[in-house]
Amino acid sequence: MPHRFMTMNRRQFLQLAGAGAGAMLLPRLAFGGKEQDGFTILEARPGKARLKGRWGPATDIWGYGGTVPGPELRVRQGEEVRVRLVNRLSQPTSIHWHGVRTPNAMDGVPGLTQKAVAPGESFDYVFTPPDAGTFWYHPHIQTYEQVARGLYGILIVEEKEAPAFDRDLTLVIDDWRLRRDGQIDAASFTNMGDWSHGGRYGNWPTVNGRYQPVLPLTPGERVRLRLVNCCNARILSLTLRGQSATIIALDGQPVAPLETGERPIYLAPAQRVDLALDASLPAGSEVSLVEAGQDLPVDLARFRYGEKPSATRAGRAPVSRLADNPLSDRLSLSDAYRIDIALEGGAMGGMRSARYRGKTMSIRELVDNGQVWALNGEVGIGDKPIFDVERGRTVVMTLHNQTAFPHPMHAHGHHFRVIAQNGKPVKGAPWRDTELIFPRDKVSLAFVADNPGKWAFHCHTLEHAQAGMITWFNVQA
Ligand code: C2O
Ligand code: CU
Repeated sequence: MPHRFMTMNRRQFLQLAGAGAGAMLLPRLAFGGKEQDGFTILEARPGKARLKGRWGPATDIWGYGGTVPGPELRVRQGEEVRVRLVNRLSQPTSIHWHGVRTPNAMDGVPGLTQKAVAPGESFDYVFTPPDAGTFWYHPHIQTYEQVARGLYGILIVEEKEAPAFDRDLTLVIDDWRLRRDGQIDAASFTNMGDWSHGGRYGNWPTVNGRYQPVLPLTPGERVRLRLVNCCNARILSLTLRGQSATIIALDGQPVAPLETGERPIYLAPAQRVDLALDASLPAGSEVSLVEAGQDLPVDLARFRYGEKPSATRAGRAPVSRLADNPLSDRLSLSDAYRIDIALEGGAMGGMRSARYRGKTMSIRELVDNGQVWALNGEVGIGDKPIFDVERGRTVVMTLHNQTAFPHPMHAHGHHFRVIAQNGKPVKGAPWRDTELIFPRDKVSLAFVADNPGKWAFHCHTLEHAQAGMITWFNVQA
């Protein structure tokens, strides 16, 4: 694995060369953890987490390997991922590899791409991620509950040529809804108020499963920060107080380096942003990662500068653009398949009726079935796809948000880019797998449908998806 050494500084190298090797690699499973005939084992099972701090009560969670977040999986671009999911839960589960353009059979959507994995059973996921970048994995059944209980982890696909960073640090952001005794408020999982409004918001933020962790920074070092929003519903508005950083990738796909300055970074559920952070402040400085979305600003984590400067100075050169991924960017708009998709329902949305399980239902009947959202008048995953296209065809989906809430819309198996907003063309938008669509907006997303199979398309506010805002499309073989 010679590529690992390229991102290390001298101190890390010496550590690795010496006795600390095992300890250093431990937090990254790096496909060297618990194995079984070449497969990394991910057990979905109950566990305990110290979300309330070392002296608080331990919270009962569900996690991969019983931990939250689950193990950080790392492969190099071009290497195969081999994961055996073992279900030690009391309900069926699956793993979806969010943002990874996997073959359809590995996409992890029960009812569409595989059978749900029953308690006690297992499922083997094998695929080679085409794109380098920051991805994550989570169940795709009873998702609103399983993710809220802690079932998620990070998949990092390292670039073939390691970019110049002294350190690579993932920050997995979640908000939990905890009761006063520190346990997950499970009674409100199916709260219709949450489902018909903005989804389940938590009251307890964590980064990497810890409340307001203090993270050391070495003066002079250049760190790659990978921020992942694993919240069920919270749209994060993030700032690094007093510290500029440079955006280098969104949803795993490289973008032209962009300095954030004091501007907030919006991160909707499931979205990721990669930042290059030059630790350019004086020794002893402190920088907060602040979330100021809907509530009062809250510190998610703090960076504390140490006293000793970094031995290496990767931060002296300007941040360069990451190598592009093998994404098909040859959009053929002149003969594209075009479809308008109305986002409907929810509180104050004015939806009167919609089709659910082949039947037209009034809003009252729908509410009785726990359903309040629809896409083009259809609630949930039906027998028929919302569209069906030949492989290789360019697709333009124009989403019209007719609801009173923003929706982070996510397409499986593909990355898309915004090409128009409210009738105005948009040029050079980033490739994304999840795009936040604001109320009343009309946004056109384009992609090349080059991955055959049945792909889910849904809102990533997990309560909205559960309550109907999910459909699928078919790409012919
Ligand atoms: Cu991250 Cu269909 O999901
Ligand atoms: Cu939504």
